[in-house]
Amino acid sequence: MSAVDVAPVRWDAGTGAFVVTGFEEASAVLRGSGWSSDPANSPLAPPEATEVPSTLMLFRDPPDHTRLRRLVAPSFTARSIEALRPRVAAVVEACLDELDALVADGEEVDLLADFGYLVPMAVIAELLDVGVDGAEVFLEQTPRLVKLLEIDAGPDDLSEAVAAALEVTMFLTPVLAQRRAAGPEGTVGTDFISSLLATDLSLDEVLGTCVLLLAAGHETTANLIANGAQTLMEHPDQVTHLHADPARAVEELLRLHGPVKLIGRTALGDQTVGGVQVPAGSQVLLLVDAAGRDPRRWPDPDRVDLTRNGPAGLGFGAGIHFCLGAALARLEAAEALTRFFARFPGAQRRDPSPRWRASSTFHGLEALPVRLPVH
Ligand code: HEM
Repeated sequence: MSAVDVAPVRWDAGTGAFVVTGFEEASAVLRGSGWSSDPANSPLAPPEATEVPSTLMLFRDPPDHTRLRRLVAPSFTARSIEALRPRVAAVVEACLDELDALVADGEEVDLLADFGYLVPMAVIAELLDVGVDGAEVFLEQTPRLVKLLEIDAGPDDLSEAVAAALEVTMFLTPVLAQRRAAGPEGTVGTDFISSLLATDLSLDEVLGTCVLLLAAGHETTANLIANGAQTLMEHPDQVTHLHADPARAVEELLRLHGPVKLIGRTALGDQTVGGVQVPAGSQVLLLVDAAGRDPRRWPDPDRVDLTRNGPAGLGFGAGIHFCLGAALARLEAAEALTRFFARFPGAQRRDPSPRWRASSTFHGLEALPVRLPVH
């Protein structure tokens, strides 16, 4: 029985929220108006939620969100992201060389830690042009930073995430100052920080946006790569479909094992979702993973078939907060997975079945130990 056989929208007394598992119903909330993303409005968020920097667009509502997004979005156009493909490919190849070295030294390889996490981190560090020092700070702080995004983050989690955001900000502040000073008038560098500095964003907003890119872009992309690799090793017959059409394959891997399990919203006024009355001030939890397996939209939804030409799921959200980094994440996952399976066609999992990490919000593995052929 799939989740939507139960009821696509229902009140869950345990969490104190309306739970939405149907694709159409979840989509309608994401695309509708009168919903808030601001944790300060959520009846479930602890008081510490107000300490989350107000410069993160993910947690803002219109008109603040509209303004921030309009200023940041030009750095993320499909064309500007596609232009990054050779740099992303080079990052992936360098990470694969490291894997080769580990295998040659007889080391055990954990594809999540030794590849999944490294690719997006190296890409973000390269985009922001912060060198090895920056990558090290980011790698250290992001596991704490992503607690910002956990829907059930408690006071301690939020304090830790805010402290991590501060560490990242402290590292980036002199970088920003230097970059502002370095660019003669009218000239901007080609890195993201320089292009953000060239907009009307305040310095705090540029810093907040960098923190958000790290928080939103690292754990998620790492999990898409590792979840995708795990699925492909479980279904090796599908690897040929990955090589035939990487973009289509990534879309299907995202639907089946997307890194984001749920998205929260608070009703600002009385709402009706899928025929269910949702009073003002209520929290709704949109179960992205269940919505992506809604049998009313995808026939035989659990079947792994990377040739499926189905509609897109909600793995990147929808509506005004639709993932700003979607094109970059798709590009990274396609490059990472195709190049990994081209380099190591005989890759095998060491665990007989996947070990999923306990998290309310993220769908990711504890680890992905693999056996790789020696070259
Ligand atoms: C928003 C998923 C990668 C930046 C979102 C949302 C989802 C999502 C579901 C919407 C949240 C909501 O509506 O509340 C993912 C997944 C990724 C990924 C699954 C990887 C597989 C990235 C990357 C970046 C990024 C690589 C940037 C480097 C953002 C930003 C937002 C966002 C800035 C907020 C947009 C807004 O509020 O308007 N992402 N993301 N994401 N994502 Fe991603």
